[in-house]
Amino acid sequence: MGERVYNFSAGPSMLPVEVMKRAAGGMLDYEGSGMSVMEMSHRSKPFEKIIQDAEANLRTLLGIPDGYDVLFVQGGATLVFAMIPLNLMTGSGKADFLITGQWAEKAYKEAAKFGDARAAASSKGQNFSFIPKVPADEFRADADYVHITWNNTIYGTKYPAVPDTKGLTLVTDMSSSILSEEVDVSKFGCIYAGAQKNIGPAGLSIIIIKKELVGRAKADIPTYLDLKVHADNGSLYNTPPAWCIYIAGEVFKYLLEGGGIGAIEQVNKRKAGKLYGYIDGSRLYMAPSAKEDRSLMNVVFVTGDEGLDKKFVAEAKGEGLVQLNGHRSIGGMRASIYNAMPEEGVDKLIDFMKRFEAANA
Ligand SMILES: Cc1ncc(COP(=O)(O)O)c(C=O)c1O
Repeated sequence: MGERVYNFSAGPSMLPVEVMKRAAGGMLDYEGSGMSVMEMSHRSKPFEKIIQDAEANLRTLLGIPDGYDVLFVQGGATLVFAMIPLNLMTGSGKADFLITGQWAEKAYKEAAKFGDARAAASSKGQNFSFIPKVPADEFRADADYVHITWNNTIYGTKYPAVPDTKGLTLVTDMSSSILSEEVDVSKFGCIYAGAQKNIGPAGLSIIIIKKELVGRAKADIPTYLDLKVHADNGSLYNTPPAWCIYIAGEVFKYLLEGGGIGAIEQVNKRKAGKLYGYIDGSRLYMAPSAKEDRSLMNVVFVTGDEGLDKKFVAEAKGEGLVQLNGHRSIGGMRASIYNAMPEEGVDKLIDFMKRFEAANA
């Protein structure tokens, strides 16, 4: 077997080695069942325990109050972009969006197919380098909800605090930051995330939603898109992404064993702090995101010279530091340092950056 690399991909991204070892151990015979979780009926006793434990452990990790449902669904965050308006934009039919990146824009455009979606603010004119501060009275008082993207994977920004929406339901896409820092779930009507960054393999999305918001979908939408169908059936209306749920559950256990979200948040702050600290002090690199809105998960930086950026990415790869290229739409570099990126990987990256700077600045 070759050596494992430090994979700075924005997603799918690194998973904890311990979790993959555990999963490998049960690959042919999961806990004496004589089969893999991949081969197991989703109605079987062992799988019932897997999904129930996964939900319970996620509730513990995030402090999810009892008045919220936790749903495991397929289709990625992209399908949730449609599920949210189809389920929630059903009162006044209006929703306000904060456009802080391409994913936020996609969520907005999807909602606009189904109702009166409005962009309340956007940082597009400044290349999404910051999070617009929007006074609460900018939102339409009769909006069914306000939608934000907590962490902007492509641009390396995140909300420094929960925005005030004057009591309007707040819905957030947390695909690239869920489980990375403490959040007060009670401030949100709905939090959703695709799994393939901090949760597990691609193919699963998690929707955490206030129970009172479930059951508002119009009758004519596809069955799978009605959140009530999933809530009423414990995410087992149809065959769920069983293997993904199993791995997610193992990731949740692993995080709990490590001290929970408070503990991983400290590590994440230290990892990101080191990297931004070095970038800010260097003569070669620059991080374009506003300092107060910097992401802990996606550290975006450039040299200012496209050719040099490409050389950086290629040489880093040669040292086992892979997937450091920025998103194809903006170029430059991006180090995605999700929960499973060991601190040692960040130290190795900084060491490489120093040597590259000495040779090229
Ligand atoms: C913030 C955010 N939202 C949504 C998506 C789209 O997720 P999916 O590919 O699961 O549909 C991504 C993907 O990277 C993302 O980073």
